[in-house]
Amino acid sequence: PTITVVDRAGKERTVDAEVGLSVMEVLKINGFDDILALCGGCCSCATCHVHVDAAYLDRLPPVSEDEDDLLDAVEDRDATSRLSCQLPVSEALEGMRVTIGAED
Ligand code: FES
Repeated sequence: PTITVVDRAGKERTVDAEVGLSVMEVLKINGFDDILALCGGCCSCATCHVHVDAAYLDRLPPVSEDEDDLLDAVEDRDATSRLSCQLPVSEALEGMRVTIGAED
């Protein structure tokens, strides 16, 4: 599928996302340096925070307790906040738009 990414500068780019990767990995592969992903995707850093298209929220796995705790530490958390390393790419995400979260 393709997803559209909005970086912190407000620039938009549509990229190919490979099924089986996480959205975080797709962002890294495509050179979005705003995403630090310091823990490498093991759900312990929150530096991969994104805001997800509200229309796609129910196509994503539910927020785990660990993810919820980490998101609590994120300043710009809102109802569309997710950790991108916890979002597996699937065909259901075609056309999704993700906005990289603010720097903490
Ligand atoms: Fe660390 Fe996602 S990369 S929580």
